[in-house]
Amino acid sequence: MSTLDGRELILGVTGSIAAYKAVYLLRELTRAGARVSVCLSEHAREFVGPLTFRTLSGRPVLSDLFDPQSDAAVEHVALAERAHAVIVAPATANLLGKAAAGIADDFLTTLLLAARCPVVMAPAMDGGMWEHPAVVANVATLRGRGVTVLEPDAGALASGLSARGRLPEADVIVEALLTALTVRRDLDGQRVVVTAGPTREPIDPVRYISNRSSGRMGYALAAAAARRGALVTLVSGPTTLMPPTAATFVPVQTAEQMREAVLRHAAGSAVVIKAAAVADYRVRNAADQKIKGKRDLTLDLTPNADILAEVAARDTGAFIVGFAAETNDVVANARAKLEAKGIDLLVANDVSRRDIGFDAEENEVLLLDRWGGSRALPRMAKTAVADAILDEIQALRAAHPVRKAVR
Ligand code: PMT
Repeated sequence: MSTLDGRELILGVTGSIAAYKAVYLLRELTRAGARVSVCLSEHAREFVGPLTFRTLSGRPVLSDLFDPQSDAAVEHVALAERAHAVIVAPATANLLGKAAAGIADDFLTTLLLAARCPVVMAPAMDGGMWEHPAVVANVATLRGRGVTVLEPDAGALASGLSARGRLPEADVIVEALLTALTVRRDLDGQRVVVTAGPTREPIDPVRYISNRSSGRMGYALAAAAARRGALVTLVSGPTTLMPPTAATFVPVQTAEQMREAVLRHAAGSAVVIKAAAVADYRVRNAADQKIKGKRDLTLDLTPNADILAEVAARDTGAFIVGFAAETNDVVANARAKLEAKGIDLLVANDVSRRDIGFDAEENEVLLLDRWGGSRALPRMAKTAVADAILDEIQALRAAHPVRKAVR
């Protein structure tokens, strides 16, 4: 645990019966050499008094953003800037919801918005809550933004129920913290363009052609690249996701707008990753007014420009990564796509499956590179797939530094 030596940590504690376990976690963190500031939510104070945390941390406990006796309103920014990591344990369903929505109505939630360091959340809640669609969606949003949200343990809960909702053990939380702190900064200062989501091709002012892309895969890549130090531009079609705060966000609607944004930002970039599901066709003459009537209607479709092939052909020096959404003959189709588009790495996924690919939390991909290599990754959370893809990109860039010569 020596890697915590001298680390500045913030331990946020929210209002769950498991708040008492945060005392033990605090002791573990300080024993490992970390300097810990504890931040209690108003409800956490109902479970464990601040004196215990103050005594063990040797620091004043933070909680009231609006205390006229303190500089708390300013202090949360300074504290967030100093911190190497923020841990929230226990994190209630309420805290997860507020953090996902960007609500800042107390010291801890305000500090979470100001923090640019790794954040680890260890949830604890009553039976059934962890599975509620609202909580599931909030956890997905936070993970998509790069926050480590641990799985709660299963077992007996304070309510008497037995379910998944127990605070993970302190050693599990510490392990996750160490992982979050040892994230590689191997893209430090490098420009990375990521595309995500679907495009919308108008039929008339109220209708459009689109697809099932949620944007999760691309947003996970943007968040992972930003965590690794990259200057990320995320060019995204319409999604319901919050873009990673560290990325420059370029929202677009149509394939043509995406093309313009990608070509503009690709110049000077080290890596371009096209995870977006771009519409292959647009309506040639979209109507200016809403189309009426119940007659048969034929749409005159014309192909959109192939953005990926175009950016690769420009030979800007960027490492170019494309995705292939396939429903059959995945390997053969993906290999053909890699060659046809003239790119460096292709990430193929089988979008006929419901458990991966479009609008799923997880993905299972095959990586094919222009030098003949291939690697199948197991099914994982899209956040983990994103880091594995970046690992592959970095390995290939290191192995083929003069890759333009092989074109
Ligand atoms: O968004 P999610 O719900 O998380 O789902 C993720 C995903 C399934 C969308 C993602 O993993 C994925 O497969 N993205 C690529 C989808 C796609 O459009 O595949 P394609 O095989 O049709 O296109 C091949 C490549 O060319 C892609 O990199 C695409 O961005 C690019 N392309 C396609 C058409 C076009 N006109 N211009 C392009 O640049």
